[in-house]
Amino acid sequence: MIRLASKDIKEAIEKDLTQEVASLKASGVEVCLAVILVGEDPASQIYVGSKEKACERLGIGSLVTRLPKETSQKELLALVKRYNEDPKVNGILCQVPLPKGLNEQEVIEAIDPDKDVDCFHPFNLGLLAAGAPRFMPCTPFGVLQILKRSNIPTQGKKVVVVGRSNIVGRPLSILLSLKGWDATVTLCHSGTQNLAAECAQADILVAAIGKPEFIKSEFVKPGAVVIDVGVNRVEDPSHPKGSKVVGDVDYDAVSTKAQAVTPVPGGVGPMTISMLMYNVINAARFQKGMPPFQL
Ligand code: GUN
Repeated sequence: MIRLASKDIKEAIEKDLTQEVASLKASGVEVCLAVILVGEDPASQIYVGSKEKACERLGIGSLVTRLPKETSQKELLALVKRYNEDPKVNGILCQVPLPKGLNEQEVIEAIDPDKDVDCFHPFNLGLLAAGAPRFMPCTPFGVLQILKRSNIPTQGKKVVVVGRSNIVGRPLSILLSLKGWDATVTLCHSGTQNLAAECAQADILVAAIGKPEFIKSEFVKPGAVVIDVGVNRVEDPSHPKGSKVVGDVDYDAVSTKAQAVTPVPGGVGPMTISMLMYNVINAARFQKGMPPFQL
């Protein structure tokens, strides 16, 4: 069984991205990301800190605005408008989930689609569904980079995606069905009948349901490739912190049957931020009328 850790892939991509940022800078183009974080969700604080560090590593400028959880919808929309109109800001990202009482969808739709580096705006999701994406949804594109750079072909393969979220499952199922990736995609969800049997058809099984260690060995066809997108914090008294992070896949059980499995942590998770950096670079290129940088 192959453990599909992403460290080397991430490093190779970030090396190319760092060079691209430097070459843009040499031609007078500075790249800058604006991040909005509302409230004190601990996981969101960690993610936003990692995004700031990634910008620093790659030479991308970052503006991070941390707002209290009492922030009103009106104040939040005013900040988005300010970043929309700021020519120095190439990409805008509002960390989700937002605190209760704020309207996430309205904020997403207020972001200028040309600066929507999360690829959450309906305009960008529409371009993706039309087969002409401007931005790549970050976690789904991270999954595709792991497959491509591990020499796991998707062409003609049966891929089963479990989970239909707007951030991962649905955009990933669309991407995999596009020309070039050419997979035969089944999108499963909480209403799917005989889920284990559906999953056991897959050459490539993607778990993105947010349930700790839900995918057991009977969900997996012998020799399948299993991609675990889950990040679940569970209690573990044997750990110094009293908890640990596990994926949506029962890694030990599935390892005995699969050809390859992505670990958690160290698999899909770290790729998301590198793909965000890729989108920020391409936002800057798009705004200057340049063709996209290809990975
Ligand atoms: N929350 C969890 N993942 C993401 C992401 O990729 N982007 C944003 N904006 N919020 C998130």
